[in-house]
Amino acid sequence: MMDQHRTPLFDALDYHAKSQPQSMHVPGHKYGQVFSSKGYSYFHNVLEIDATELTGLDDLHHPEGAILESERLLANLYGVQKSYFLVNGSTGGNLAMILAACSSQDTVLVQRNSHKSILNGLKMAGARPVFLHPTYEEEVKVASFVSFKTVKEAFSSYQNIKAVILTSPNYYGMVNQTELSQIIAYAHENGAAVLIDEAHGAHFLLEGFPSSAISLGADIVVHSAHKTLPAMTMGSFLHINSTFIKPEDVESYLQILQSSSPSYPIMVSLDLARHYLASVKERGSNQIIEKMNVFTERVKKIPQLKIVTSTNQAIQTDFLKVTIQPQCELNGYQLQRAFENEGLFTEMADPNNVLLVLPLSETFNADEALLLIKNAVKKYKPTKRNFIELHSGAEAISTLDLCYNEIKRYNKKVVSFRDAIGNISGEMIIPYPPGIPVLMEGERVTEQHVKILTTYIEAGAHFQGGDMKGKYINILDM
Ligand SMILES: Cc1ncc(COP(=O)(O)O)c(C=O)c1O
Repeated sequence: MMDQHRTPLFDALDYHAKSQPQSMHVPGHKYGQVFSSKGYSYFHNVLEIDATELTGLDDLHHPEGAILESERLLANLYGVQKSYFLVNGSTGGNLAMILAACSSQDTVLVQRNSHKSILNGLKMAGARPVFLHPTYEEEVKVASFVSFKTVKEAFSSYQNIKAVILTSPNYYGMVNQTELSQIIAYAHENGAAVLIDEAHGAHFLLEGFPSSAISLGADIVVHSAHKTLPAMTMGSFLHINSTFIKPEDVESYLQILQSSSPSYPIMVSLDLARHYLASVKERGSNQIIEKMNVFTERVKKIPQLKIVTSTNQAIQTDFLKVTIQPQCELNGYQLQRAFENEGLFTEMADPNNVLLVLPLSETFNADEALLLIKNAVKKYKPTKRNFIELHSGAEAISTLDLCYNEIKRYNKKVVSFRDAIGNISGEMIIPYPPGIPVLMEGERVTEQHVKILTTYIEAGAHFQGGDMKGKYINILDM
């Protein structure tokens, strides 16, 4: 193991800032000397390290110095061939891994409940996705993982599969390690690369948490470092450990997709997040897990709330994710708003649940959050709630009704939900968060799609795509 106490990129920026440089270069704020007086108090410290590709500060797109050293430390910590800092979130990493792995018309197996960045990557590549529908979690009422059985079925139904693209964990922190490692081994035996969107699992190398897909043998794994590690928003990692995909191919897409002026504060925060993670790994994660357990035990005592996890013994759940179901008159979105009214902001709600992301820290003090949580629900009478069913009831395997290259040929027109049924959707309709499309571009609109969309709308979801207030969507004008 390399010396993980080192922070080469942070040190380079720290040294540069302390040398009191005179800026005759971009960015225009000149290390904070030129800035609106409004907001200066928030920004000024960070602006001191918001530099550009100067001597000693290396270049993300051709790293030879501090960035290269920092990325090597990152690869060493995760035990991979190569790791990269990303400044455009996992979105950029997902796009790059897909473009590096697939060409136009390649058949790829893709988890149906993928983040939109995965689907956009497939569209950009012009690939032919075969969707694998995940199992449905009865207790939590959410989609979880793709089974090994479904993957084997897809391999026997389709020829020349280039890649298998899965998301693990799901947004609620669920992983099925056993099936995931079986899928990876099987895909490799059948000549396909495995790409994992592990956006929510950057901390999975810590003991007591689910295993990372890296240790299970995946070819490329993308982490939103900013989601669960202490990194700035947009800061992410891409790790490659593959005999199927060449690092140079990934690098060339990262150069195309990412800014030529990557943010140094984001990159430095990635160097420091790696250092933080390595320190937690060194001292052990028991204390952190203990803090989280104490928190969940105390929430469990609030009669208007129930903490839910998968009842499937094969699933491991990330301790950082806490899924709460209301046991009162509120639905998931309403409970989220009740928390917000007390000043507690949560990660996400769905019609049945509210999702919290706890801090990866031994110093987490739950008292204040617990007080707000109790205050938010105290006026509601504890009752058993009826669940809102969101099971799509779809076949385990499906495809687009029109492939991405063909979709481009048609104009689109806006129609009501009712009139859309039976037509091909011209857009993705995405409850956001989590950013997982209910309806895909190129998919034929069914009664079931409309039913699920209506359920989300009535429960109060926020959407990207379509006019969900008026219940209109874009279909292809064929
Ligand atoms: C599963 C998953 N993948 C990818 C992304 C995109 O990540 P980022 O926001 O880092 O671009 C998200 C964001 O919510 C996500 O939940």
